[in-house]
Amino acid sequence: MSDKVLIAGCGDVGNALATRLLADGCEVWGVRRRVEALAEAVRPWRIDLTEPRGFDAPPAAFDYVFYTASADRRDEDQYRSVYVDGLRDLLGALRTAGCPLQRVFFTSSTAVYGQDDGAWVDEDSATVPPRFNGRVLLEAEAIIRDAPETGINVRLSGIYGPGRTRLVRKVWKGEATATDSWTNRIHVDDCAGALHHLMRLEHPEALYLGSDDEPVTTADVVSWLSTELGVPAPPAGQTQQTERLNKRCLNARLRETGYRFEHPTFREGYRLIVREFLSQSG
Ligand SMILES: NC(=O)c1ccc[n+]([C@@H]2O[C@H](COP(=O)([O-])OP(=O)(O)OC[C@H]3O[C@@H](n4cnc5c(N)ncnc54)[C@H](OP(=O)(O)O)[C@@H]3O)[C@@H](O)[C@H]2O)c1
Repeated sequence: MSDKVLIAGCGDVGNALATRLLADGCEVWGVRRRVEALAEAVRPWRIDLTEPRGFDAPPAAFDYVFYTASADRRDEDQYRSVYVDGLRDLLGALRTAGCPLQRVFFTSSTAVYGQDDGAWVDEDSATVPPRFNGRVLLEAEAIIRDAPETGINVRLSGIYGPGRTRLVRKVWKGEATATDSWTNRIHVDDCAGALHHLMRLEHPEALYLGSDDEPVTTADVVSWLSTELGVPAPPAGQTQQTERLNKRCLNARLRETGYRFEHPTFREGYRLIVREFLSQSG
């Protein structure tokens, strides 16, 4: 019998994951409010994750859950309601309904780390988040860590991919500055690829850092992008104090599971994005 998988908050990462799972023969259900934006062949479950009254009747006996919702607004109440309450209430409802859950996943963020001096961080590093978003995400991680099922938290760094062209546009318009702060990113294909890989891994750990092979300074990324785009190199600038970027994420644990990145660095990932951007800006 095919595995029944629920992707709660089925947006960019969720849809990319769904496509992989469908190719495996899984029965894939996606939760979101705009179900018309689900990838083809994903079965819709239209609920609002912040309205638990809607969870009473899960449409299938789910074996796996990926909680990949993201908050609409950057305020603490909204964050807590989507990441903590929504996650807890959904899992509670699925258990009450008798779903034979095997593994539950949560896509957390490297915002849980407070290091801002260029230090390397991994799954064992201290998590002293400087802001509410990281603190709320740690609360959500605890729900997964304490789950009776196999719970797996994946801390993703900055997600980029097709359609996410903010940085490319900034460089194109001459609005980027080259700063020496470290940044970390992961292509949406690798978010999906890594989650898919961890779903099938025989003995997974409870926590993974999901970031590509190469932390890179903002200066290096924007200068590379400017060359690819054929525009002048961005001028040197100061990192805004409010940015709090500047750590280096180590993905050794994920790579040791045998996962191979489709886009090991920003160069492979951005090449196609730049090409498409140029063909549209033309
Ligand atoms: N963006 C980053 O750089 C980054 C970094 C680290 C971690 N993450 C995490 O990675 C995960 C996947 O990110 P993504 O880029 O795939 O996000 P995304 O494209 O924004 O997808 C998230 C989906 O959640 C749905 N959603 C939000 N609130 C909901 C609600 N109340 N009820 C039902 N559905 C709801 C939205 O669909 P509707 O609007 O149709 O409901 C949206 O499509 C998220 O958990 C995010 O927090 C992101």
